[in-house]
Amino acid sequence: MNEDTDYEGKKINPKTWRTILSFAANRRKSFVIILGGGMVAGIIDTAMSFMSRWAIDGFMIPGSREHLGLFAFAALGLQVLMAVLTMIYCRAAGHLEANLTADVREAAYTRLQGMSFSYFDKTSTGHLISRLTGDIGRITEMISWTCIDLGWGIMAVVASLLAMFLVNMKLALITIVAVPVVAVLSVWFQKKILSYQRKTRKLNSMITSSVNEGIMGAQTSKTLNRESLNNEEFNIQTRDMYRASMRSATISAIYMPLASLVISLVSGFVLIAGGHDVQHGVLTIGTLNFFLNIGNMMFEPIRNFAGIFSDFQSCQAAAERVADVLVSVSEIEDSPEAIEKYGDFFHPKKENWEKIRGDVDFDHVSFWYLEGEPVLTDFNLHVKAGENIALVGETGGGKSTIVNLACRFYEPREGTIRIDGVDYRERSQIWLQSNLGYVLQTPHLFSGSILENIRYGRLEATDEEVKEAAKLVGADEFIRKLEKGYDTDAGEGGSNMSTGQKQLISFARAILADPAIFVLDEATSSIDTETEQRIQAAADKLLRGRTSFIIAHRLSTVRNADRILVIDGGKVLEQGSHKELMAKKGRYWELYQNQFRREKLDESVEELNKF
Ligand SMILES: Nc1ncnc2c1ncn2[C@@H]1O[C@H](COP(=O)(O)OP(=O)(O)OP(=O)(O)O)[C@@H](O)[C@H]1O
Ligand SMILES: [Mg+2]
Repeated sequence: MNEDTDYEGKKINPKTWRTILSFAANRRKSFVIILGGGMVAGIIDTAMSFMSRWAIDGFMIPGSREHLGLFAFAALGLQVLMAVLTMIYCRAAGHLEANLTADVREAAYTRLQGMSFSYFDKTSTGHLISRLTGDIGRITEMISWTCIDLGWGIMAVVASLLAMFLVNMKLALITIVAVPVVAVLSVWFQKKILSYQRKTRKLNSMITSSVNEGIMGAQTSKTLNRESLNNEEFNIQTRDMYRASMRSATISAIYMPLASLVISLVSGFVLIAGGHDVQHGVLTIGTLNFFLNIGNMMFEPIRNFAGIFSDFQSCQAAAERVADVLVSVSEIEDSPEAIEKYGDFFHPKKENWEKIRGDVDFDHVSFWYLEGEPVLTDFNLHVKAGENIALVGETGGGKSTIVNLACRFYEPREGTIRIDGVDYRERSQIWLQSNLGYVLQTPHLFSGSILENIRYGRLEATDEEVKEAAKLVGADEFIRKLEKGYDTDAGEGGSNMSTGQKQLISFARAILADPAIFVLDEATSSIDTETEQRIQAAADKLLRGRTSFIIAHRLSTVRNADRILVIDGGKVLEQGSHKELMAKKGRYWELYQNQFRREKLDESVEELNKF
């Protein structure tokens, strides 16, 4: 269970939050509206206490109606202002939540896309991304709505303190004695409650897995006579869980009344001291009431702050995972000059991006993954814009390496790769990658619906456009047949899809982005003939006019390519069109014959099996 990290009581790390909040820099306006709105609401709340004081001292006690109209007008005005304000900042918070989620997701996703492959060698991508989607949602929701509480809370406390000291020093001093008491109580109790909740969740997941094990392993237990042992373990776990839940409930049950008791005690002291002054005529009843009101109001944000603190704490693990991705350093870095001109992942300067044509040039490129084990040596290849290139050859020949270099997932160790005549290292990775569509040998889908998965190609695409892209690549039909259609969760439902079907979905994702350069690294195995034919048909249609690299394992897929390269040992053995290469009767012809024979053999075996 990788979720264990969530159960650990993580300390809040400001650095993590700074990273995440740096994304909010673009959303300054929303923050200002929310925080500002909250603050004004805090001031209005304080002003309402003054209004009650005015009502009591000005009208009720003297039984006067002088200025009643003004009072009514002011009271109504404040209430209307409050209503409008609430509407504005709630809307802004919803807006911020949605935008921030999109910003962070896009940045994280781009970051992952731009990450060199060695990063993926070390990190389990599917898991990483599915966690990421959930984590980001949780964090941005918390940040957006916490802002309101924070703005309101800070201002409510500051304004009430100020008001109290302005109105009556003695009563103000009595009231603020309780502030640290309530603050300490709240923090302590919230922490305790959080830790028991974590413990309960952890035990719960242990019990679930025990139950699974108990049922799945029932047969083995029977033969091994482990039943009584299993039972005992299970009983201990359930008892622990019961105890932890009870503790958490008990502590919650103590906290609320205890905090109320402290606040009531303060009200009691205010009443004693203030009542005395009222009797002696040095204090008005309105002012006494003002203190009782404001005391109650001021403690709410203080209790809230403790809640905010524990919210941040419980999101710490999630925030760290997200921040990890956002700052993870790709082994491929843009040069300072490139960043200066083209911007970086977070702040792309799209206005400076050259339109891409799609010429790709490998100029004396050498490459190795491991020192001393060269994969490509002095490799040269010129691909004209719009040319469809197919790469075929034995496994391990270096086909994927060539396209990974073209995509700048890796950079040449020696030599240069030029796109439209310019060394791609002089431009930014994001410039290239946003002009690039690729379907990888092992496609990964992200947790979230199929619709969302395809939409990652172009985040602003409408549902209709997404479905159109799926239709274009021939994925629409099988997606519709899934139980929930486009809403099927690709994470969970992904296990029911074949590699070929997943490739079709990535294909739709890639095509949605309308890239100038397209890369398709066909799945080696487990791709059924029907899906293969679909991919082939879609490729034929969609690749016209785009520079493309297709790596195919079934030669029938590449017959229509403008140029076929036979790659072996990191070298181009032969190249030409299907016709030319067949006429040459060289390596390609051999591969073709072999495959043809193998297919015939498979067919005969199938025929035989029928009998
Ligand atoms: N991440 C890596 N680290 C180290 N060596 C690697 C890595 N990826 C590939 N190689 C090695 O580089 C060589 C070329 O591999 P590559 O994946 O480019 O071949 P391929 O032609 O795509 O093969 P296939 O047809 O099986 O997909 C192989 O010897 C392989 O073992
Ligand atoms: Mg490969």
